[in-house]
Amino acid sequence: MGVIAVIGGTGVYDPSMFEHIEEKTMATPYGEIAYTKGSYKGKQLIFLARHGKGHSIPPHLINYRANIWGLKKLGVTMIVSTTAVGSLNTDYAPGHFVLVDQFLDFTKSRVSTFFDGNGKKVVHLGVGNPYSPALRKVIMEAAEELNIEAHNGGTYVCTEGPRFETPAEIKMFKMMGADTVGMTNVPEVVLAGEAEIAYATISMVTNFAAGISPTELTHQEVLDIMAEMSDKFKALILRTIEKLDPNQDLPCHHRLAEYGGFKAALGKEGELL
Ligand code: HPA
Repeated sequence: MGVIAVIGGTGVYDPSMFEHIEEKTMATPYGEIAYTKGSYKGKQLIFLARHGKGHSIPPHLINYRANIWGLKKLGVTMIVSTTAVGSLNTDYAPGHFVLVDQFLDFTKSRVSTFFDGNGKKVVHLGVGNPYSPALRKVIMEAAEELNIEAHNGGTYVCTEGPRFETPAEIKMFKMMGADTVGMTNVPEVVLAGEAEIAYATISMVTNFAAGISPTELTHQEVLDIMAEMSDKFKALILRTIEKLDPNQDLPCHHRLAEYGGFKAALGKEGELL
């Protein structure tokens, strides 16, 4: 039976919205992960707090490979992640939800593939559709049912962090077509793609980005908006889970077909899955 995972970003740490929850840890070839197992309306769920307990891991030090490898091992077929983002698009105001469909990668120090030599195949993931169109469609339907305003589509620029951006950087990203900015979606979305897990992210706009907003952004401001919106966020996630069928076969589950699939392409490491 397929499992749905929720990766909670900034401001989304609380798995108590799910039932039968159990705290667990698991060893992966990339290090240990901590996660919560649970269910909702009969569906098996995994919740993973991206920044760790008490928001202790900064964006550039998150063990993205351990997280995604662990989810794959746990039978996860669909990931709905959450991200707090700044907005570069005046139509996307603080408090709005955005389901991005493209990314720009401005990270600098992160390993963004499982295929790093060591006897594994040389894999070039196609990223025409980095965010699952099928999952985004379900999230949009859930938002409509709940009367929650959500924008379907947009380009997310991922910065290295942990500092916020300069106004000059934001001006450049805007010229390049970015609508939102955050620090965590890359390489998470890429690794989920390699692992043949359908992935979508629900972004919450917490602020206008540097230079668009006249005031300097603080982390507290991001947390405050996330806290204000947390009931809506939870409702949207739960309705989405209700509507998702984790056993549905999607194109995302076959993205490495030309390499024999994720497990085969990993070689010896794949035997551990
Ligand atoms: N920049 C980067 N990350 C963010 C922002 C921002 O303005 N807001 C929330 N996360």
